[in-house]
Amino acid sequence: MEIRVLQGDVTKVETEALCLGIFQGIKEPGGAAGAVDRALNGAISHLLHSGEFRGRKGETLLFPTLGRLPARRVLLVGLGQRENVSAEAVREATAAAVNAASHLAELSTVVHGAGVGGLSPQEAAQALVEGALLGLYRFRKYRREDDDEHRPTLERLQLIEVDEGKLSAIRQGAARGRTIAEAACWARDLANEPGNALTPEELAARTQALARGHEALRCGVLTERELEAEGLGGILAVARGSAQPPRLLVLEYAPRGLENESPIVLVGKGVTFDSGGISLKAREGMDAMKYDMAGAAAVLGAVKALAELKVPARVVALVPAVENLPGGDALKPGDVIQMGNGKTVEVTNTDAEGRLILADALVYARRYSPQAVVDLATLTGACIIALGKEAAGLFGNDPDLLGRIEGAAEASGERVWKLPLYDEYKELLKSEVADLKNSVLGRGALPQAGAAAGAMFLREFVEYPWAHLDIAGTAFDVETRLYCPKKGATGYGVRLLVRLIERLSTSPSANPKV
Ligand code: BES
Ligand code: MN
Ligand code: ZN
Repeated sequence: MEIRVLQGDVTKVETEALCLGIFQGIKEPGGAAGAVDRALNGAISHLLHSGEFRGRKGETLLFPTLGRLPARRVLLVGLGQRENVSAEAVREATAAAVNAASHLAELSTVVHGAGVGGLSPQEAAQALVEGALLGLYRFRKYRREDDDEHRPTLERLQLIEVDEGKLSAIRQGAARGRTIAEAACWARDLANEPGNALTPEELAARTQALARGHEALRCGVLTERELEAEGLGGILAVARGSAQPPRLLVLEYAPRGLENESPIVLVGKGVTFDSGGISLKAREGMDAMKYDMAGAAAVLGAVKALAELKVPARVVALVPAVENLPGGDALKPGDVIQMGNGKTVEVTNTDAEGRLILADALVYARRYSPQAVVDLATLTGACIIALGKEAAGLFGNDPDLLGRIEGAAEASGERVWKLPLYDEYKELLKSEVADLKNSVLGRGALPQAGAAAGAMFLREFVEYPWAHLDIAGTAFDVETRLYCPKKGATGYGVRLLVRLIERLSTSPSANPKV
């Protein structure tokens, strides 16, 4: 989609459709909507007084101007309560607007939320462009174009601003929003790929292709033999049930001059399909386990955006990539394996595979002497029980890092909720035969603190400031955000990680741990 920022008066701009934001409960439109209302002989205030349009978040109404305005149509979009105006409200309203105008070729819009008492013009423009691109996203790779009646035709989005003083901030915000949203859509595309198309090898190939497109990116891929040499027994064990060989992907972003800085390491769970292995999952909904590499997609997408934004920080993304299937050589319940740091694990459930591959990647991260490590993983169904689809579970060992993640979550609209790692949970990891076990389920045990059990397991493998985001709920099939498709990958994590790393790069930790 073409995105332009134009200086102009909304009553004078010639366009297919002009989008105006309306706060809930307002009866007399002000600002741009007020000026348009006067040009239309009070049509908008009429709709507001009659209650035909209430301004509820995401509500839309498209009507023709019949020659009373150079704009051929007006599109009203509800912004919700004025007191709650936020970047997230702008994102959602814009997503609703572009969908209401998806059959047109062009939409011009005021920059919602940038008025007095609202957001900065840059934040508002960024959120608006994010909402537009994320909201119009479709995964149509495997559908024939000619039988796709819902294919959007919107080609151009124009941001209209009268005040010359705000234009450069709006231009900057729009450009940032575009880069970040495109990276999130790239992550969605990756996560939406079916398991047969996106194998660990294909994920490696896509990552290498991404690195080739950017001067400051380098991609390394560890093959099975190299994983053996490194002793990464967790990754190797999970991969054994599949004909697809495992990979460990290393995508490094090092802007010039920062090649020797202590990096931020991002780890993303890359299970390209999770059948559960020998501890086979139930048949219903198993197809959704193609999204079990959404953590990988998020960290790779974030690095893509960081490189394009030229953020001054060294970042290394690590993706352990495997397929979890119950083949003849598969890992079995009761098997004992040895991990990259020498610890032994009794595998009580082969469906708790994410922690096995992530633990090895976390061990591998140590060689970078990272300032911080953040992992993203669709790790536990229990996290969905705890938080639903509205927030990722946040765990970690460093209050400063956790606080910064909470701040970045707030700013990006990608919610997190902190959950505890009590020492008492260590009981959940105790094995009779090995140093650790990977699951407490089974043998009549009541399910308890499942998301924390996964995080506690990972904590056994970290020796640096670390945070873990369980994105099982937020990664796909989110129906409550207007810029997320009801079905499919959300790209959750890209916006959050970009914010976090930008902030870490401009104000490094007050008490660095390394
Ligand atoms: N990939 C799943 C977790 C998951 C479930 C993500 C539903 C998204 C939606 C993970 O590998 C898994 O199977 N976890 C088990 C852990 C258990 C065996 C300790 C689970 O949540 O049941
Ligand atoms: Mn599993
Ligand atoms: Zn899994």
